[in-house]
Amino acid sequence: MFFLLQLRFGIKASSEGGLSYHFYEKSCPQVEDIVKDGLEAVFLMDPTSPAALLRLMFHDCQVQGCDASILVDSREGGEMASSKNFGIRKRELISMLKSIVEAQCPQQVSCSDIIILAAREAVALTGGPRIKVPLGRKDSTRTPSYEFADQLLPPATTGVANMLNIFAKKGMTLPESVAILGAHTLGVTHCSSIQNRLYSSENGELSVMEPSFAAFLRLSCPQGPLTSNLSFVVNDPTSFVFDNAYYVSAMEGRGVLKIDAEMVLDPETARVMQRFAVNQDDFFREFSSAFAKLSCSGVLTGEQGVIRKNCNAIN
Ligand code: HEM
Repeated sequence: MFFLLQLRFGIKASSEGGLSYHFYEKSCPQVEDIVKDGLEAVFLMDPTSPAALLRLMFHDCQVQGCDASILVDSREGGEMASSKNFGIRKRELISMLKSIVEAQCPQQVSCSDIIILAAREAVALTGGPRIKVPLGRKDSTRTPSYEFADQLLPPATTGVANMLNIFAKKGMTLPESVAILGAHTLGVTHCSSIQNRLYSSENGELSVMEPSFAAFLRLSCPQGPLTSNLSFVVNDPTSFVFDNAYYVSAMEGRGVLKIDAEMVLDPETARVMQRFAVNQDDFFREFSSAFAKLSCSGVLTGEQGVIRKNCNAIN
């Protein structure tokens, strides 16, 4: 089965202890239930946390692979200090889950696998597909610098070409790349991330926005830096639900981020967005395979890396 997935998704496996759907079958068979049960309770109390966990996974995997490097509390200048990690939240939830897992299966389960399982639950428990993910990642023993993270994480001003390039490197097809952006069906964008869109005179950005939506965004995000890091707008009208409303909304000229709006202008990505806007199952299918590819990118397995006892510190 894993061999088939490797063929289809180009997943890297090491000969010893590589990723597998049965990785914790003997060492911690209850790990998936621990993560699910723990997060069910958390999500009830705080419905904004699924979005945070899904974005956390992307930002971890995008820098040096899915290795939990984003969790390390490093000296000033470490990965989390990258300005592109602005708005990253809920790292502490992974530590909370890890301590429950450690109590039942000491030194068996990596923090990087917990990040992936948490993101998978973020999607499933908000109404999205339940994605099967192979496990067995190890945690990194070094943390990247903020400069390195700056280079690899996409800016809020990313356009279609750059976006496609980023996801092609993870083996994603065009429909999968459009689908993974459907993660923006959850959560919020801070005003500081769209100030340029709303007030820059150069790029004519507002011309692609539905006028009443442009007016709404400007009201929600008035010009000036004072509160732009605190105020925010929701990414789509059903921002607590994983559904295809993001595509419907973007097709109507209500995309919040530049990438959400630009995908509508590019004929190739627009075709796929239209497909997803009318067929949620289609979106869920492409999202699931894109998620699997993202979650397997640049992983450490077997003798590489470690299982950190404390996710926030290199052992
Ligand atoms: C080129 C690709 C992408 C760009 C340029 C981009 C950019 C952004 C920006 C600027 C924000 C708002 C941050 C803030 O102001 O707080 C955001 C939010 C978000 N992004 Fe992306 N993103 C991309 C891909 C992804 C991917 C692949 C995922 C997940 C698989 C993802 C999941 C999210 C989620 C869930 C939020 C809401 C977070 C929250 O509410 O805390 N994004 N993204």
